[in-house]
Amino acid sequence: MSASDNSNSIQQEFAPLKNDRLLRALRFETIDTTPVWMMRQAGRYLPEYKATRAEAGDFMSLCKDTDRATEVTLQPLRRYDLDAAILFSDILTIPDAMGLGLYFETGEGPKFKHPIRTQADLDRLPLLEPNDSLDYVMRAVTSIRKALNGQVPLFGFSGSPWTLATYMIEGGSSKDYRYTKGFLYSNPEFLHQLLDKLATAVIDYLDAQVVAGAQILQIFDSWGGALGHRQFIDFSHAYNKRIVAELKVRHPQIPVVLFTKGGGLWLDVQADSEANVLGLDWTMPIDRARQVLNESQRQLTKQYKKIQSSKAIQGNLDPATLYGSPATIRAEVNAMLDSAYAGGEKTGYIANLGHGITQWVNPDNAKVFIDAVHDYKI
Ligand code: CP3
Repeated sequence: MSASDNSNSIQQEFAPLKNDRLLRALRFETIDTTPVWMMRQAGRYLPEYKATRAEAGDFMSLCKDTDRATEVTLQPLRRYDLDAAILFSDILTIPDAMGLGLYFETGEGPKFKHPIRTQADLDRLPLLEPNDSLDYVMRAVTSIRKALNGQVPLFGFSGSPWTLATYMIEGGSSKDYRYTKGFLYSNPEFLHQLLDKLATAVIDYLDAQVVAGAQILQIFDSWGGALGHRQFIDFSHAYNKRIVAELKVRHPQIPVVLFTKGGGLWLDVQADSEANVLGLDWTMPIDRARQVLNESQRQLTKQYKKIQSSKAIQGNLDPATLYGSPATIRAEVNAMLDSAYAGGEKTGYIANLGHGITQWVNPDNAKVFIDAVHDYKI
């Protein structure tokens, strides 16, 4: 039996979807109102999240605790009328499973005990067996999917190879990507070897999430925007394109969202992939993104001599907008939706923030954002 047959039978074991607004929008079907969710919707801005994390002890223990990971995934859905859920986990589970020793220093973000700096470090990286070292993620996916009971679709996710590589080489978060870019310009072959291993890992990881019950996938290329134009194409996009192409072979029915922070300049580049949706941050106007993508669709259709489907768009409210007053949030949401639908087509768009919600947001303001999206008459 092929992997996709297998996933189809698994998908049928779960309750049918009651709210398919988000899936309809990305297929450019008619919708009653705009679907909306928030990147990082389960997180520290919610007091109930902080309470559950305190019970678990620390962040990674929370990710590995099936019941609590399920609980925190559902917490934002109890407060808000969201149109999707996202697996509670992290992009750094892959490097952790490869033996880099992930830990979180309070106030400093993620760190790795064993960053990748030498050929020996690279050669030591094991092949990822998602159902073995990352079985806790798959258990969480299945548990969340069951608990949702068809309420909304469930996102699985992964970091992009480039974004994962920056953490693995730097040993944590970075502002200038000193070591990663050092390799890019002094030993590009080394970086390509790592990216190649990561692309294989990401494919198998996302495949396993679909088999476990994920209904849609998002690839977070959070730091793609740090690259130069040609470097983005070679060191980030090429690998994302390969990942999406392979996922489409294994699971043709599962939509894929590709979110590159700072990737607005490269929508034409990213359009040359089988992703169904491109995520935007707040620097790119949605109406302009739509025009670029329509033009890319025409060019790619000519290039491949085969009709290419249009990409839906996801995004792109500046998360800092949620520090503003309810009136400001509503005005900004209305302007965003005017821009999303300016071309006249009243679908093909998923509302979201342009990056993750921050820990300093008042949860009531997140509700204003979500309700304003649904209140907008399309
Ligand atoms: O969106 C969701 O609700 C699902 C859960 C989710 C988390 N991280 C939980 C988390 C998702 C989708 C991620 C993705 C992630 N993780 C990204 C890509 C998205 C982006 O923001 O660009 C990145 C770059 C990471 C790496 C990471 N994990 C960092 C830099 C940090 C620390 C920064 C911070 O916000 O403190 C984490 C930890 C993390 N991942 C937290 C959460 C809720 C906070 C940890 C805590 O509870 O203390």
